[in-house]
Amino acid sequence: MTDYVQRAAAVLEKINELAAISEDATGLTRTFGTDAFLAGRRRVQDWMELAGLQTRVDAIGNVRARFVSPNAGAKTFVIASHIDTVVNAGKFDGPMGVVMGLDLVTRLVESGKPLPFHIELIAFSDEEGVRFHTTYLGSKVIAGSFDNALLDKKDAFGMTLTEVLQRMGSTITDLPSDALAPADWLGYFEIHIEQGPVLYERHVPVAVVTAIAGQKRVEITFTGMAGHAGTVPMAMRQDALCAAAGFVLAVEQFALTHKDNLVATVGKLTVVNAASNVIPGEVSCSLDVRSNDADLLETTYLALHELAISIGANRPIRVNWNLIQETAPVLCDTGLTTVLAKSIQESGYDVIPLVSGAGHDGVPISQVSPIAMLFVRCYKGISHNPLEDVELADMAAALRVADTFLDSLIEQYP
Ligand code: GLV
Ligand code: MN
Ligand code: MN
Repeated sequence: MTDYVQRAAAVLEKINELAAISEDATGLTRTFGTDAFLAGRRRVQDWMELAGLQTRVDAIGNVRARFVSPNAGAKTFVIASHIDTVVNAGKFDGPMGVVMGLDLVTRLVESGKPLPFHIELIAFSDEEGVRFHTTYLGSKVIAGSFDNALLDKKDAFGMTLTEVLQRMGSTITDLPSDALAPADWLGYFEIHIEQGPVLYERHVPVAVVTAIAGQKRVEITFTGMAGHAGTVPMAMRQDALCAAAGFVLAVEQFALTHKDNLVATVGKLTVVNAASNVIPGEVSCSLDVRSNDADLLETTYLALHELAISIGANRPIRVNWNLIQETAPVLCDTGLTTVLAKSIQESGYDVIPLVSGAGHDGVPISQVSPIAMLFVRCYKGISHNPLEDVELADMAAALRVADTFLDSLIEQYP
């Protein structure tokens, strides 16, 4: 295992280097298109070039490196993850998959053997969707499903995606041609931390992902009447925050009654013109609902919409409901997943199949390519939090499994 531990240590060094590139002085935040993002991306591109790969940055800001096969008509196998982060993030969510991918490809380059298929290593520019409240900007472009309506979306400062891309030096008209044609895809592979507690509790370093939960994201605005906190009698108020509070608790209650296959979260709450002596007149909140069961996801969505309307009607408060994003649950490819599970077994680990509650770039990619994902245990399942942590030995285990997986694919390729 020594060799793998050494490789894992080199991977961790790069993860730490990237984690030092942040919008904040106090933590790690590297959202799409910011100066920190551009600096992080440059670092990743430099590493890819040092590894002897041909690189380029595409119009949505993904860094792409190719290891080209001499085979005429060869298909492309994509290894990828993302380099954007949430606010006050952990350092492994995304970057670990990119840096490990680079390590895997470097081994293949250094072997000096020609590949039977092309490998494209991609550092996706936006998976988290923090800046524009919509996910998968990078992978949607690669999958050819990027909708130009997204270009008009505005960030918190009123900058549109078009303006951000222009500032990044992108040529927007190139977006469609940056997709990999459906016929060129051989497969997609991503290594990612589990972001949940199963592997930690079961004392197993890696897992094979079988499916990724579907999700819906909604923005809800409760509008009542702002007023004087000292003079308006309690019975005469239209307090938007009280309506929102009722909704937040109702969401939790609803999800608890379906907790085997459903999670629902209100993660953002904005009180407009908030002050301690003002009755809140307008409050907006986010809603994030996820399930692996498409029907349950849909019925929950409709039920929570109805709940919001009835909470508003009882006060009365106006409710505006705006569906921001939805993705259906997706299945990982049975063929690739079987090879991955076999690689886990051959590496000496128990095979644990897991459904991912977190979203991943494999969701849009699954529309055009078979996908497979390897999860790596993280400390207590903590993620989207600076406490996110992964043991060196677990990264070493993941590299061993992934080497075996890629070698099997190379061997099996016609
Ligand atoms: C991405 O991390 C998500 O699942 O929200
Ligand atoms: Mn991620
Ligand atoms: Mn994340």
